[in-house]
Amino acid sequence: MTDEQLRVAVVGAGIMGTDHIERLATRTKGAMVAAIVEPDGSRAAAASALAPDAAVHARIEEALDAGGVDAVLIATPGPFHKAVLLPALEAGLAVLCEKPLAPTVEEALEVLEAEQRLPAPRIQVGFMRRFDAEYAALESLVRSGDAGELLLLHCAHRNPSVADTYTESMTITDSVVHELDVVPWLAGAGIGAIEVRAGRRNRASRFADPQLVLLELENGVLADVEISVNAGFGYQVTTEAVFERGVAEIGRAAGPIRAQDGRVGVAEHRSYTTRFAAAYDTEVQRWVDAARRGGIDGPSAWDGYRVAVASAAGVEAQRTGRRVEVAPQQAPAFYRP
Ligand SMILES: NC(=O)c1ccc[n+]([C@@H]2O[C@H](COP(=O)([O-])OP(=O)(O)OC[C@H]3O[C@@H](n4cnc5c(N)ncnc54)[C@H](O)[C@@H]3O)[C@@H](O)[C@H]2O)c1
Repeated sequence: MTDEQLRVAVVGAGIMGTDHIERLATRTKGAMVAAIVEPDGSRAAAASALAPDAAVHARIEEALDAGGVDAVLIATPGPFHKAVLLPALEAGLAVLCEKPLAPTVEEALEVLEAEQRLPAPRIQVGFMRRFDAEYAALESLVRSGDAGELLLLHCAHRNPSVADTYTESMTITDSVVHELDVVPWLAGAGIGAIEVRAGRRNRASRFADPQLVLLELENGVLADVEISVNAGFGYQVTTEAVFERGVAEIGRAAGPIRAQDGRVGVAEHRSYTTRFAAAYDTEVQRWVDAARRGGIDGPSAWDGYRVAVASAAGVEAQRTGRRVEVAPQQAPAFYRP
């Protein structure tokens, strides 16, 4: 690494990778996009226009062989994460891996084992909600005890629509995966059991949608998550937290209240890229700062592994209609602060 800049290879230049390239090239301090790794020529060319000095490669191995890279930001689809994570770890590079860490528990375990061969954790997982100002304020409220103990969380996660390639189990592995990270983080306890229910189907959907996911936490907190992926109207992520002496709500649309033509309203987000823009900025900046010091500053690969375990239980609960228990997880010493 140079004294001034963390040289980042961004792997995968789709929606998230391009968003991160733009962020690294324009807003992030102490980092530069040194390489773009993307097999699709037209996507690589479009991303390259945002970071014209970056080298362009089709495969991660080419970027690593070429050198001049201190860190890797992985924004390929989940099934391709491990194939980038393992060589990046082998090269001892800092990693920010978009969620999920890996699509299966077995792959996540393989990544953990590879990382534990290094002196310290190098992988941060892109569960960016922890960096959202409102989520952070809610987490502080829980920790402070000012409203008493946390009792319940009501979460809603609504997407306007999803691609044709999105399948029913992805409601858990791709969408609710965010709540599988952030709910235990808010509640301060692991997930003990999961249940998934579906009722009347949105006629815009090819599969059960919306669904209700009930998370039982090891400290007795219950969290219900509404996942809707054909909500149509916009992108909305809200959480209502019920405490012993009060209720707190985050994620409501904010901005000018506009009255016109007999209506009063507030604009809603249409995509996570705007809803969580500030959270992504903070996430990437804190990762860069930590990577320059040789560490991470956010969800670890251990968190990614725990989410993979909960995700597998969630998919089983969805498939069988049963309540599925999640075995308690004890972090290896390597991942304890
Ligand atoms: N944190 C969030 O809020 C959030 C939101 C959306 C997506 N994601 C995650 O970001 C990742 C990417 O999602 P997306 O929506 O941008 O996907 P996408 O399909 O838009 O883009 C993925 C890109 O990766 C490229 N790719 C595939 N295999 C590759 C490989 N081996 N090497 C290099 N490039 C490769 C593809 O050609 C494509 O351009 C996924 O892990 C997804 O879960 C996170």
